[in-house]
Parts: sequence; C-alpha cells; structure tokens
Amino acid sequence: VVVRLEDYRPTDYLIERVYLDIQLEPEAATITSRLSLHLREGTAPGTPLVLDGDALVLRRAAIDGVELAPDAFEASADRFTLRAPPAEPFELQIVTEVNPTANTELMGLYRSGGNYTTQCEAEGFRRITYFLDRPDVLAVYTTRIEASRSEAPILLGNGNPVETGDVAGTGRHYAIWHDPFPKPSYLFAMVGGDLASIHDTFRTRSGREVKLAIYCERGKESRCHYAMDSLKRSMKWDEDRFGLEYDLDVFNIVAVSDFNMGAMENKGLNVFNDKYVLVDAETGTDWDYAHVEGVIAHEYFHNWTGNRITCRDWFQLCLKEGLTVFRDQEFSSDMRSRAVKRISDVAKLREHQFPEDAGPLAHPARPTAYREINNFYTTTVYEKGAEICRMLQTILGEDGFRAGMDLYFRRHDGDAATIEDFLACFADATGTDLSQFALWYHQAGTPILITEHDYDAADETLTLRLRQILPETPDRQRKSPMHIPVAFGLVGPDGQDLSFSRATGARVDGSVIHLTDLQAEVKLEGVKARPIPSLLRGFSAPVRLETDLGMDDLLFLVGHDADPFNRWEAAQTIAMDLLKRATEEIRQGATPVFDGRFAEELGRLASATELDPAFRALALTLPSDMEVAQAIRTNVDPDAIFVARRALQTHLGDRIADALAAAAPAADASYRPDAESAGRRAFRHAAWAYGLAAGRITSADLAEAFHGAGNLTDRLAALRLAVHRDLDDAPALLEAFYERYRDDPLVLDKWFSVQATVPQHSTLERVQALSRHPAFSMKVPNRVYALIRTFAAGNPVAFNRPDGEGYRYMVDMVAEVDRHNPSVASRLTTAFRSFRMMEPSRRAAAEAALKRLATVPELSRDVSDILIRTLEG
Ligand code: ARG
Ligand code: ZN
Repeated sequence: VVVRLEDYRPTDYLIERVYLDIQLEPEAATITSRLSLHLREGTAPGTPLVLDGDALVLRRAAIDGVELAPDAFEASADRFTLRAPPAEPFELQIVTEVNPTANTELMGLYRSGGNYTTQCEAEGFRRITYFLDRPDVLAVYTTRIEASRSEAPILLGNGNPVETGDVAGTGRHYAIWHDPFPKPSYLFAMVGGDLASIHDTFRTRSGREVKLAIYCERGKESRCHYAMDSLKRSMKWDEDRFGLEYDLDVFNIVAVSDFNMGAMENKGLNVFNDKYVLVDAETGTDWDYAHVEGVIAHEYFHNWTGNRITCRDWFQLCLKEGLTVFRDQEFSSDMRSRAVKRISDVAKLREHQFPEDAGPLAHPARPTAYREINNFYTTTVYEKGAEICRMLQTILGEDGFRAGMDLYFRRHDGDAATIEDFLACFADATGTDLSQFALWYHQAGTPILITEHDYDAADETLTLRLRQILPETPDRQRKSPMHIPVAFGLVGPDGQDLSFSRATGARVDGSVIHLTDLQAEVKLEGVKARPIPSLLRGFSAPVRLETDLGMDDLLFLVGHDADPFNRWEAAQTIAMDLLKRATEEIRQGATPVFDGRFAEELGRLASATELDPAFRALALTLPSDMEVAQAIRTNVDPDAIFVARRALQTHLGDRIADALAAAAPAADASYRPDAESAGRRAFRHAAWAYGLAAGRITSADLAEAFHGAGNLTDRLAALRLAVHRDLDDAPALLEAFYERYRDDPLVLDKWFSVQATVPQHSTLERVQALSRHPAFSMKVPNRVYALIRTFAAGNPVAFNRPDGEGYRYMVDMVAEVDRHNPSVASRLTTAFRSFRMMEPSRRAAAEAALKRLATVPELSRDVSDILIRTLEG
C-alpha cells in the first residue's frame, strides 16, 4: 500500500490524555493504557474508532471500567476497532502484552544489554499499545513504570518525575512521570535498567533551574562529560540565537548500545546510540567529539523544532529534520570554525545527498507518497532540508529569517504543522512571496547551474550569463525554474573584491544574484578591472555549478578568494578535473600526466601558516571516489577512478610532501578535543598521507607514530594509512589495536571499518572472514554498519568488484539481516542506489543480484520498498 499526501484527513477522534502503566518483565511486559477519547466536532456519533497496532497481543479492553463485549470490538495484531463508540467523551482501557527480549527490530519496547528502551519514531508506539499512532494526535501523557528493583533500579519517562516508591513485598518498585506538554505518540519514551549516570544543572535565562542527567552503561560514566558540556552549550545557544528556553524541570539523556539510528528527541528523555555520547581521549576521535557535540545539540534543538511544534503527517518530516539540522550546523559553526564546518557539510552533502538525488531513490524534500516511512529518514530530508533553510536565510537576511522563526514559534507553538505553515511565517513576517522558493521542497533532483562571463574593459562592465537545468527524476515530474540564490564576489587582480555600481538583468541584493528564470544575463557596471567571478560563495544553493573558469583563474581563486569556502572549492574543482581526465586516460591504457601548477598552488596554500590548519587539511583532501563517479555519471569504472586518485596523490606527494612535513605542527603533549587542536592533527595526518604517497614516510615511521600516539585520533590515523597502503607493519598494528581495545565495542567498530575500507578486491574475502570474528554480531546495528555497510557504501573498489561478488555478498547480507531487523537491512540495500551509472558488466551483475533479492520469501516492507524503487528507477 502507498500512503499519499493528498489523502490526508484529520482523525475522527481526539485523545486528550493518556495514562500508561507499564509492567516491565524480560519476556512479557504488560501495558495498560487508558485513553480519554472524544469525538471530533462534526464527526457523526457512532463512527467506528480504529486504532493502529503492530504485532500486538490484546489482553483486555474496557470502556469506563466496563469490560467490552466480544462483538463490540475487533482486535488483530495490527488493528483495534471499536465498532460503535459512545457519543460522549469516554475512557478506553486497553491491556496489551509484548516481549521486549524477542524484539530484535529495535522498534517499540525492547530489551538489550539488560536494559529496557523504547524507540517510537516513526511508527513504533503501535508496537507497544493500540493507538492513533500519527503525529497530529497530541495528548498529555502520564506514565507509571514498574520493574524489579534489582533488574531496573533506574526508571525514566517523559516530562517531570512525580512519584517513586516500592511495591511492598514484591521486590518491585515504580516511578510515575508526567509530561504537561501535549505530544504525538512518536515522542513517547521510557527507559528501565541498571544504569550509571552523571548530573549537572542549567539555569535558563528566565531563572528556571533544570536538572540534567546522562545515563549510560556502568563503568562508562567518565566518558559522558563532553556530552554534558555540549548539552549545556546547546541550551545556552538556543536562548541566545533563537530566544528559545527549555521548558521542563529535568532533561535526561540515555546512551544505549543497540540502537538503529543516531539518536531520538523524545520529550525530556532523549535516547542516544552511545556512539554519539561516549567519548574520551582514549576511546573517541576528533570526529567523534564533533559528532557528539552536533548530535546532542540536534536532539536538544528538537525540543522546539519537532516537539513544541511537530509535524502534521510524515510527509512533513523535513519540517522538523531539515530545520533542526540547519540549527545544529549553525551551532557547530559558532562553537568551531564556520568555514571548516561549512566545507565539511558541503562535502557530506555531495558525497551522500547528490548521489541519492541523482539516482532511483530521488525524492523531494517534502515527498508526496511512501510505502514505508522509515525509508524517508534520508539525506535529502535532513541535509537538503537544511540547505533549504539556509537559502531562506540567505534570501531574507539574518534578521528576516529570525523574524520568520519568531513568528513560527508564536503562531504554531503546540501545533502539528506543515511545510506550507512554515513558509507562510517567513512570507508574512517579511512580506516576501515565497511561492517559487517553495519548489525546493517539491521538486527532486539537483539543479545544474551553468555560468559564463565576459568583461568589457572599455565599458567597465561584467556580463554574467546564468542558466539552470533541472534534471529528470524518477517521479517524471515536469519541473519549473527554481529560485537559486547565487552569492558572489568579483575577485580583482590584487585578490581584493571589486565593487560594482549598478546591476541589471536580474534581482541582485548586495552580493546575491537571484536566478529565478531558466536563464538570466546579469550586467554589472562600474567594475574597474577585469575580475574573476567567484560564484556560489559559501555554497549558497545546493546545485552543481559549472563555470567557464579555466585553470589560471581557478588557481588564482585558490590563492586569493576572500571567501574561504570558494578558495577550497576552487582547489576541489581543479582536482576533480584532473581526476576525471586521469580516469579517462587510465581507461585508454595511458599514463596520466598532471598540470604541475596545481601542486605548486596547493603547496603554497598548505604552507600558509596564517590559515587555519583544519582548513588547509581540507584543501589537501581530494574529492571522494563517489564524487568523481558522480561527475563522470555514466559508464563508471571504480577501479580506474581509484588508480587515478593514487596517481594524483603520488604526483602531489612528490612535489609537496616535504613542505607539508615542514609545516606540520608537532604533536600536542596532551589531548584536547577543541577544533583548533583537531585541525592540527588533521593537517599532520594529511602530511603523513602525502609523505607515504611520495615514499618519504615508511612503514616503520607510521608504526612509530602509532605506538607513540597519545590519543585515539592519531593512533587510528596511523593505523588506517598503514592498512590501506598495505604496509609491512599493518598486520602487527591491527593486532596491537585489537588487543588494546578488544573490550571496547565502539572502538572495535573502527577496527572493523578500517579493514572494510581497504581499497582492494580481496577486501571482500577479508570482510567475509571478519563477519565470522567472535567480536562481530549481526544483531548489533553499530557492528553491522561498521563492517557491512561501510564495505558497501565506503569501499567502491571492493563492493563494485568486476566479478559481481561484492553485490552478491551484499544481497545475502540484506536477506540475513532482514529476518531480524528490517530498518537496518533497508539501509544496507540503499548501497545499490547508484548501480545504473556503472559500466555495463557491473551494472548487469548488480541488477541480477537485486533481482535475486526480490525472490527471497517474506522480505520486509522496508527492504522491498527500496528494492522496487531501485529496480524501477
Ligand atoms: N528523529 C530522529 C532524529 O533526531 C531520528 C529518528 C529516526 N527514525 C527512524 N525511523 N528512522 O533525527
Ligand atoms: Zn532529527
């Protein structure tokens, strides 16, 4: 069945209050739900009440305390129907029983590592009790949780704690929680277990004292401090930047090791994959620190963008996710380096979202149909959604954007809203017509922006011709021109930006050209010298830019552009061009030759000590294999791309490795996770990589760096290089790493990932062997992601092996995981999303593997949805 946006209809009944009593038992938890229901005004009395369920067993049902007659209702695993409900408000009591231990899907109420946890978004609440399980039904919840005190001394719920106590003579105890804010069922959560914790407080700007706590597995509480610090900084930042205060007496975070996704914003009780909470110098990398900070902030920010204002239906997912990603990006930019954050986010967008948008799984940020909503927690909804908010800010200015946000919170607090509601606030607050802009939510595909320029010295006029192409996507929708904000500058001969006196041909506000037609010819007058146009500064729109700038102009921008993003971008553009050409030459059997001027310019940039080392490290990072494949677009041969990359690395290494070694900062005496220190490490690792490529650094040097490392970031960087370059010391380092971290699941995940990404065909056999390693488990999502998904999504050489064995292996893994965890299995399936761009023999092998997957009996809806779309697209 396909759910369609156009079929949206409000419910016939409203649920005002929910009282839940949850009796925790490992194999039979009993849930008693009392729902205060009433008919919606205008609905005919007697209209049947239909509640959602999923794999439920009904124990009892009663209305206002009177047991229901058998013919008054119908209950199946996935539905509860009350045939003729009372016309007056009534209380429906329902008792269900679930088995938390047998719940391997990790949706609903499950038990892992001895702890009880819930995950309800998007449709997990219906696996706990029958309910109107949709985001536009908002109710006030009171939850009583009861469990054996020895098994679960900690009992947490949404909202504020009300009461705790013993159940005399049973060894059991209970806790009652009350959440005063009406919320949809997907924000419900409860946790029970024997957990350790750290505590702190935060005073909001109006003086409310909030008790903060982070709970985790015993023995790991010392790794929670950075997360706590990030939480307090997030709370302060949301007050300062958006005027948003926290609204309950407590804020609890629980870190669990078995979790399908990153984290979940349940009201007052965020539940996290422990990967995004636990960090210290010994067990967390710089990457981990940055992501802990970002994800803690993201979930906290949902309290306003998601919880206080939620979504009317799941088509609106981007309303909360895109906006909240934008907010967490802004937070991280303020905490760290704005330029470095922007570059990393854009690189991520290109690596993941652009391929999604260019393949069979492309969909608008606000989709209009789905078979399985779990499959729409995508990079398009999240990351492109964030880009849309960013463009809104670019178009309206920071003040206009803030005015729109303020109106959104004033107008919609307590609502289940839509994208249209959201945009109307910005239109109303600023008097702007956003109807064309709204297309960003409705049209899938990455627009291509093509530009040409001409400078007339006599007239002192620069002419910019801009054209947008809207590629076809699987929905076959006819597309209208989008509103593309093009931030720009005119880089003069001395590297300073030149001004212009007048602009005609399109709306130009300050430094932003608004392209709203398919094409425009913009004339900028009063330009005193021949400029190099620096377009799409800060990546002001999520498009593929194709300019007419040649090598000389690009090299000049690498050296001089006042916009750090475009400085980086100019280097990427050159590298991409070199990689594309070299790939083609390799396929023709030729040896690639590179233009040496790039190495010179890059060497200069890398040694420019006035620049942030983190920025310089990013400039030294070549576009990923996936980006190169996307740029080549058809008839792709991943092996040739890889050989081209190695050739370019060697070419660059030969020319800049010594300069990098000289410029590389020495190791800090002690580990500090701040952005600056992390940037120095990243630069050092880039110097190692080019040193290796040039043969200036040996296996023994890396082994020494590994053993001398004072933190996981340096240790892992040395390990990765040794293993990926297949150096003599690699096996011994892998062994040493394993021995050091064998009891630490999160670090072992990295040990698996490093090996899954070795760029060789034989990595497939290595992954197969590792999947039989005693430390591996198909039941633990983080492990499956670390080994299997990393292999498929992060190792183009091995996954796309010419003999098709990589594809066949993946299909087997999908089928195996699907039997116990469909969400994880469907994420693995998306690894095939770009198979059509491969050269014919790989394409045929991938297609055959997918068709075989389609014959597997009883595939989940999650996997078959991805499969159908991938094969049709
Ligand atoms: N809302 C969560 C977040 O913060 C993610 C929930 C993912 N749920 C799912 N069914 N995939 O982004
Ligand atoms: Zn989110």
